[in-house]
Amino acid sequence: MPAPPALPALNIGPYAVRPAVALAPMAGITDKPFRQLCRDFGAGWAVSEMIISDPALQHTRKTLHRTDHAGESGVIAVQIAGSDPAQMAAAAQYNVARGAQVIDINMGCPAKKVCNVAAGSALLQNEALVGDILRAVVQAVDVPVTLKTRLGWSDDHKNIRTIARLAEDAGIAALAIHGRTRTQMYRGAAEYDLIAEVKQQIRIPLWVNGDINSPHKAAAVLAHTGADGVMIGRGAQGQPWLFGDIRHYLQHGRLPAPLSFQAASAQVLAHIAAMHDFYGEYTGVRTARKHIGWYLAALPDGDAARRELNGIDSAAGQYDRLAAFLQQCGQQYSHWPCAWRIS
Ligand SMILES: Cc1cc2nc3c(=O)[nH]c(=O)nc-3n(C[C@H](O)[C@H](O)[C@H](O)COP(=O)(O)O)c2cc1C
Repeated sequence: MPAPPALPALNIGPYAVRPAVALAPMAGITDKPFRQLCRDFGAGWAVSEMIISDPALQHTRKTLHRTDHAGESGVIAVQIAGSDPAQMAAAAQYNVARGAQVIDINMGCPAKKVCNVAAGSALLQNEALVGDILRAVVQAVDVPVTLKTRLGWSDDHKNIRTIARLAEDAGIAALAIHGRTRTQMYRGAAEYDLIAEVKQQIRIPLWVNGDINSPHKAAAVLAHTGADGVMIGRGAQGQPWLFGDIRHYLQHGRLPAPLSFQAASAQVLAHIAAMHDFYGEYTGVRTARKHIGWYLAALPDGDAARRELNGIDSAAGQYDRLAAFLQQCGQQYSHWPCAWRIS
């Protein structure tokens, strides 16, 4: 019988990341309640939603929520986005003053809002500017600075080897690569061959990211690329227990016993309540709707329940209706239905 793969580990500056299984930053999704939930399930690292470096946006309600790390367990890694080296350096300092222990630079986001101002993955077209931003941010703060990026701008312009070299030379502490280009947006399948090549080329820790949605896929992508850790975005939506399953699978070579339906339901309800607390009723109920949609997608009749829940505007009403639906499903299921346990 082959030996089980080892639990991945890496260091970011003074921080030992064990296991090197991370929640990827996702704007509008990986807020404090979701990061905490994923950590509780076993994510060894979680990065905040991106914060635009423009100081004019620092005091919006959205940014204030994104920069609220009070009571958060684990290392506080804050992602910043922008295109002006001095502004990015100032944003890094501002966030460190507000509690960031690691600064992550976003050069991976294809969103129009970000790319139109030549930030996010649009920066990949201008390698000199990439170098300037990386050096400016690394020199501006005493905390480790990491970089998250893609393979390049387009199929004809995959410059990740150059970007990785620039990152290493600038003193970047870890690199995360999403195996797509900017023009691919989220289409097609993530590609890992080039990430494996970059791993051979650099000495800094490397996260592999893109389409990792099961323990088996995490193990396969780690083996294929030789990366130091896996970073997971959409795969965690509606199933934060994925982190615990990956952790166990990488450590023991088999899945853990499944979570009971009751235990999973309790976590789901606690997540919804945490969002209500964090955002207040109006925004909390609306932010919770997309997570509820992802949770219910796994359940029969979940779609009808989701539509009904989308019409509820009060926090208590949303919570109580969801609790009743889950209780009803609990009579039918001993475990939460889970894609990687069925196949
Ligand atoms: C809704 C959404 C929001 C995202 N926001 C960010 C972001 O703020 N910063 C960032 O670096 N990447 C962002 N990403 C990209 C993810 O971090 C990740 O690289 C991408 O989804 C691929 O990984 P996955 O296949 O595991 O989801 C976002 C992705 C999604 C789907």
